[in-house]
Amino acid sequence: MNSAAPLSNSQKNSFKVSAHNWPYPFWIAHRGAGKLAPENTLAAFRLGASYGYTMFECDVKLSLDEQAFLLHDDTLERTSNGQGVGGNLNLSQLIQLDAGSWHSRTYAGEPLATLNAVSAFCQKNDFFINLEIKPSPNLDFKTGELVGLMAMQMWQDCAIPPFLSSFQIDALRGAQKTAPNLPRGLLLEHLNDDWLGMAKELECCAVICDHEFWTEQAIHLAKANGFKTLSYTPNTLDAVQRLIDFGIEGIITDRVDLFSAAKPIKT
Ligand code: G3P
Ligand code: MG
Repeated sequence: MNSAAPLSNSQKNSFKVSAHNWPYPFWIAHRGAGKLAPENTLAAFRLGASYGYTMFECDVKLSLDEQAFLLHDDTLERTSNGQGVGGNLNLSQLIQLDAGSWHSRTYAGEPLATLNAVSAFCQKNDFFINLEIKPSPNLDFKTGELVGLMAMQMWQDCAIPPFLSSFQIDALRGAQKTAPNLPRGLLLEHLNDDWLGMAKELECCAVICDHEFWTEQAIHLAKANGFKTLSYTPNTLDAVQRLIDFGIEGIITDRVDLFSAAKPIKT
């Protein structure tokens, strides 16, 4: 069990995450359980947990009435029986949707997950969470502000805070404003010209890059500048071993069935 259990008032929010004070496990289950269950649903979290995973990445955005829910795409079609932009519906409409049938009959009727439900599930089970802030179009700053605020409130009784990340600079700026004490990670599709400067400006504690683009030199540079180094979404032994050889410190994978969360491969 990790140390995310409820604390006394005097202990609340006392843990300051940094690269040198990193409370999260090495293995993180992408969207709950990768492709083995419908992404970003509690069913996926449960399946990931059944493989021993204790930390989950998920994609969070705002409903029309500014509540937080889980959805990767801007639109609902691929991963639910809904239509159109997810952020154009109120939460009361979103929770009526079937977010499981698209995947398989096993998961028919699985509801779209709210951030509130994710928070309850993780806290009851002492699980860690990586909330990727995934704004609907033109809502980057506001989504960061509100998801940061909600995450801070929902996890206020936990020793270990939720880890926030985003590709969207303005989303991270929003979270930095409303929830400055929650740890932030800068997500990168590749190592752009200003990744290090941007991670510093946003006061991130981690940089999370697409696994194909991390180099050994960049990992050393990030570490030398005080950042934890994570990667998404390596799904093969070779890809994971390459990163481990470079010194990677955390992996977000779909293959919860291939990589044991309890027994990391050779490091
Ligand atoms: O947070 C890591 C990873 O989830 C980023 O990419 O598109 O799968 O959300 P994506
Ligand atoms: Mg994601």
